[in-house]
Amino acid sequence: MYSSKISGLGMYVPENVVTNDDLSKVMDTNDEWIQERTGIKERRHIKKGDGNSTAVMGVKAAKVALERSGIHKDNIDLIVFATLSPDYYFPGCGVQVQELLEMPNVPAIDVRNQCSGFVYALSIADQYIKTGMYTNVLVVGSENHSGGLDMTTRGRSVSVIFGDGAGAAIVSRSNDDSAILSTHMHSEGKHAKELALIGPSTGHWVPEIIAESDTATDDHITYYPYMNGQFVFKNAVTRFAEVIMEGLKANSMTPDDIDMLIPHQANLRIAQFIQKKFKLSNDRVFNNIQKYGNTTAASIPIALTEAWEQGKIQKGDKVVLAAFGSGFTWASAVINW
Ligand code: UT7
Repeated sequence: MYSSKISGLGMYVPENVVTNDDLSKVMDTNDEWIQERTGIKERRHIKKGDGNSTAVMGVKAAKVALERSGIHKDNIDLIVFATLSPDYYFPGCGVQVQELLEMPNVPAIDVRNQCSGFVYALSIADQYIKTGMYTNVLVVGSENHSGGLDMTTRGRSVSVIFGDGAGAAIVSRSNDDSAILSTHMHSEGKHAKELALIGPSTGHWVPEIIAESDTATDDHITYYPYMNGQFVFKNAVTRFAEVIMEGLKANSMTPDDIDMLIPHQANLRIAQFIQKKFKLSNDRVFNNIQKYGNTTAASIPIALTEAWEQGKIQKGDKVVLAAFGSGFTWASAVINW
C-alpha cells in the first residue's frame, strides 16, 4: 500500500477587511462582545465586483499550492472540493476548478461536510492515493459566507463569526516517511438542524410566499444560516477532544507527541479549551481566527498554510488537524510532516 503526503499548500483571502467596528455600524454588536466571545478581530468579505466567488477563490489558493508543490496541473488526477457555499446549487465547485484551471476531463468530487469538509476531503484524497489509483490530488476548501449572512441585528450571533476565503493542498504519493498517518470521521445527523441553512432546498423549494410576492416576511429567515450557538459549542469541545484522542491512539501517540495542532477555527475559546485539556504550549497550537473569522471548510487549509509559511511546521513534525461542525460532523487527521 502507498502512503500520501501534503506536497504543497496555498491560501487566498479577499482584500476587503471587515472589522468588528465595521459590523457595529450595521447591527447592534460591538468589538468587545465579539472578541470576548469568539476571539475574532476582523474577517474578509468578498466585495461586489472584485471577481471572487467560492470557485474563483479556490482556484487562486490551488494555484499557489500547485506552484509550491512543484507539480504541474497536468499531473493532478483528481479534484476534491469542500464547501457549504457553492457558486451554484448544482453542479458543485469542483467542476468549475477543473474548467478554470484547464485540467481536461480530470474528475471532480464535491464534499458537503461544512466545517469538517477539508478533513473529509483530505481523507478521500488519502484513500485514493493509498490504493494506488491516483498519484496527485488537489484538495480545496473555500467559502463565500458574506453573500448569505443576515447582516442585521436579527442575525448577529451568526453573522459576526463567519468570513470568506480559501485554502488548498496538493496531496501526493509519498516516497519517504512523510505521510498522512490516519484520518477519522464521524457524524450525528440528529443534530442537523442545530447548525443549518434550511432553504433553499428540495424540502423547502421556492416558498410560495416568495414565488407569489416580493414582500419580505419571516420566511426569508430560512434563507440565512441558523446556529444554536451554545449547544454547538458544548458538542464541539467534546467531539474535538474525542476525535483528537482517537487519532492519537490509532498511532500509539499521546498529546505529548503533538508538535502542531491545527483546530478548525470555529471559536478561539474552543481552541483554548482543547489546548488546556491536552496541556499544549502556545507554540503547539495554531490559531488565526482573529484575522479571518470562521471560514468553515477553508479554515484548516488557511491555518495550515499560514503555520507552514511561518516555519512552524517542520519535516518530521507530528501535525494533528481536527474539525467539528454542522451535521454534526467531526473529523481528525494525524500527519507525519
Ligand atoms: O464552525 C462550526 C462550529 N461552530 C461553533 O463551534 C460555534 C459554537 N458557538 C459559539 O461559538 C458561541 O455560542 C457564539 C459565539 C455563537 C455565541 O456566544 P455565547 O457566549 O454562546 O453567547 P449567547 O449566544 O449565549 O448570547 C449571549 C448574549 C445574548 O444576549 P442576552 O440574551 O444574554 O441578553 C445574545 O443576544 O449575547 C447576545 N449576542 C450578541 N451581542 C452582541 C449574540 N450575538 C451578539 C453579537 N453582539 N454579535
